[in-house]
Amino acid sequence: THVVTENCIKCKFTDCVDVCPVDCFREGANFLVIDPDECIDCAVCVPECPANAIFAEEDVPQDQVQFIALNAELSPEFGMINRSKKPLPDADDWNGVDDKLKYLER
Ligand code: F3S
Repeated sequence: THVVTENCIKCKFTDCVDVCPVDCFREGANFLVIDPDECIDCAVCVPECPANAIFAEEDVPQDQVQFIALNAELSPEFGMINRSKKPLPDADDWNGVDDKLKYLER
């Protein structure tokens, strides 16, 4: 599967969802996840993310591995999204900020 990691939080650019052929993105208030039961590992979403937040599971950086479980955990709780929308306010300012996990709204 592919995994959405920390830099999506408080950005949520949503460019990723337009290209997913299987509609596997799930949307929370300030973060998206990928449903690991639906993702077919096509990887087309990876270069679409302006925050570089999406990785193949095997390529998730060491300090982000907890996001593998978090995508699986939140997928059933978040709703389906397959059309992009406006990024969150100040998305550009939050892009690249460290330690955003504490801001995750669930
Ligand atoms: Fe998040 Fe990047 Fe998609 S910021 S919503 S994973 S385009």
